[in-house]
Amino acid sequence: MPAPLLSPSLLAGDHARLADSVRAVEELGLGWIHLDIMDGHFVPNFSFGPQTLAALRPGSKLFFDTHLMLDEPHRYIEPFAKAGANLISIHIEPAYDHAGTLARIRALGCQCGLVLNPGTPATAIAALLPQVDLVLVMTVQPGFGGQPFRRDMLPKLRQLADWRRDQGLNFRLEVDGGIDLATAAECRAAGADTFVAGTSFFRAADRAGFVAEFARMS
Ligand code: DX5
Ligand code: ZN
Repeated sequence: MPAPLLSPSLLAGDHARLADSVRAVEELGLGWIHLDIMDGHFVPNFSFGPQTLAALRPGSKLFFDTHLMLDEPHRYIEPFAKAGANLISIHIEPAYDHAGTLARIRALGCQCGLVLNPGTPATAIAALLPQVDLVLVMTVQPGFGGQPFRRDMLPKLRQLADWRRDQGLNFRLEVDGGIDLATAAECRAAGADTFVAGTSFFRAADRAGFVAEFARMS
């Protein structure tokens, strides 16, 4: 199982000073930042788009872990790849050519991921697992930060971790929503290795302490 990796969600950062929030993540020695992209349709909220990524890109070496919450993600792969996304994750729920879109993400030089809403079973992506670098299991209904962790997602994580082991696959297993030090440990025990943290990271009184505690998780 890959070592645990923290991916702070910029959605919980300071939207008037996004570059400062990105820098704060980098200065703590972290490697990833999670970028939530919302279209007001797939989820009832908006965040930011490729222009924002492009503006942040020159000032940061962080790995841009980009989570597209869009009804039509296949229409926006090129703009996000060009803007500097390193990984592009797409939801399985809308109807479009999932396999073709994953292949296109790869062809553009990015890693690719698939995302499952809480109501979507792991079986929905079983056939596509050999094609992905990451599977993101939503542990809240996407759209907003600060929601409580859905413990009922733990069996789904275990299922995906079992398939990964049994089929000799090596995708990262990421969780997103309500993740703090305690819920991260529960997800780790269920097989997760990549942890999105919005509120718990950006609102921590002592961010360095938060990162140090996280690093102690085995
Ligand atoms: C939810 C987003 C998350 C969100 C997590 O729609 O996908 O990445 O920022 O926020 P917290 O960690 O506050 O639950
Ligand atoms: Zn997200």
